[in-house]
Amino acid sequence: MKNIDIVTNIVVCNYTELNETQKNLVDQAKKACKNAYAPYSHFSVGAAAMLDNGTIVTGSNQENAAYPSGTCAERTTLFYAGAQYPDNAVTMLAIAAYKGNAYTQTPTAPCGACRQVILETEHRYNKPIEIILYGEDKTYIITSVESLLPLCFGKTDLE
Ligand code: THU
Repeated sequence: MKNIDIVTNIVVCNYTELNETQKNLVDQAKKACKNAYAPYSHFSVGAAAMLDNGTIVTGSNQENAAYPSGTCAERTTLFYAGAQYPDNAVTMLAIAAYKGNAYTQTPTAPCGACRQVILETEHRYNKPIEIILYGEDKTYIITSVESLLPLCFGKTDLE
């Protein structure tokens, strides 16, 4: 019997330390929060995905009176990207959230289901996705969703 430690590397920084591409993607994610349909949670999330051809697609959470029928910003965005640009890999994904009358101080991390969908997108195009989780106080950069899903289940398990 032995123990294994699984290490997750997260870069903690401020918006001002991001490069121009990252800043632009965060700006788009923040803007996308405004299009959220969140009458139940009042928690507006925006996501922006960069594709390998430079295209940026955005999305937001879309809630429903039948709660589970709603969808998170990340899945709205990645499913839209897959539906509209099936031949283009997603290379980066920025996420921001707006609550009350301000963007959140701390980064908003994707829920478990969204992590699984980000993983599928990485595997589909065989490319890691840089994830930027924006917060007014601090921002996180993660190089692949595999860091957020240790012992993940993916398509190779079905081969
Ligand atoms: N939500 C997202 O869109 N993304 C996240 O990363 C976390 C949660 C949404 C789902 C729901 O509409 C609201 O935020 C509250 O959970």
